[in-house]
Amino acid sequence: MKTPQPFQYQGSKRALARTILQYLPAYTDRIVEPFAGSAALSIACANRGRAKEYWLNDYNKPLADLLALIINHPEDIASFYRQTWREEQDDALEHYYRVREDFNRTKDPRLLLYLLARCVKGSVRYNSDGMFNQSPDKRRLGTRPETMRENIMAVSNLMKNKTIVTSQDYRDILTNCQDSDVLYMDPPYQGVCREKDSRYFTGISFDDFVSTLDQLNKRGVRYLISYDGRLGEQIYGEPLPDNLGLTLVEIEAGRSSQATLLGRDDVTFESLYLSRNIADELGSLKRTHHINRTFQLNLLESPLTCGKVPQRVS
Ligand SMILES: C[S@@+](CC[C@H](N)C(=O)[O-])C[C@H]1O[C@@H](n2cnc3c(N)ncnc32)[C@H](O)[C@@H]1O
Repeated sequence: MKTPQPFQYQGSKRALARTILQYLPAYTDRIVEPFAGSAALSIACANRGRAKEYWLNDYNKPLADLLALIINHPEDIASFYRQTWREEQDDALEHYYRVREDFNRTKDPRLLLYLLARCVKGSVRYNSDGMFNQSPDKRRLGTRPETMRENIMAVSNLMKNKTIVTSQDYRDILTNCQDSDVLYMDPPYQGVCREKDSRYFTGISFDDFVSTLDQLNKRGVRYLISYDGRLGEQIYGEPLPDNLGLTLVEIEAGRSSQATLLGRDDVTFESLYLSRNIADELGSLKRTHHINRTFQLNLLESPLTCGKVPQRVS
């Protein structure tokens, strides 16, 4: 069952979604993704009919607006992409820079789709003035309009009339979700997002995050969190504290591209934490999950982004 995905996004859980889904309750009323990014997990859930409704949220407003357009106005956004896409590489490079300039001026989410389809590793990246400054991928033209259209229509078919999309800080979502919701949280990784440039939103405060999880525990809300991991023996980020009562599952995500380049054998493991009530519901659990195919994963290696969004004035 192929899961549609209109755009690449650094940190996307597309490749791991099938594995993560095994740790979600078989069926839920609503899945909430406070750090939606490309919404890979919710789309995978919708593709398998695993929930009645979805709530997608991302603090990056143009990105959240783009998700809403894809779901609610698929024809418009697909046509806009067709007009924006360029077939000739020479023309396309110059065109990319023009689109980037326009996006920085207008924050039009339709332009962001082209930039994401065309930029290096689908990686949103902003300079110190909050301007999108990722370069174009010089080897690829970006998704062809017909493929883009198919993906957009498929996502819309799966999610229209059952999804709300917002752009708020994750803490507001956690406060306003219902006790019956299941939350999948994929915050910016600590391992790569502690950055030098303080003018950017570069991660969430670990202590704040822990205290909001504690609140969810008190309310009995069920949740799963993808949070850092390890590359070989090297652990990324501070583990979530024991007193939250979480169960840690390690998902083997493949051989790291950097290690391969260095002739090493390190394998990347991603951490998936399950709230106590989810773990209880699932009964006996596999604690380490191996994925049978090797794919190059640079998630924990890149000094860039993974959900780096410019600071918003509220
Ligand atoms: C690791 S990415 C999520 C990737 C997503 N799971 C996917 O499959 O594409 C983290 C996301 O969190 C968002 N984010 C960062 N800080 C946030 C905050 N305080 N509240 C809500 N979203 C935030 C970023 O914009 C980014 O899209």
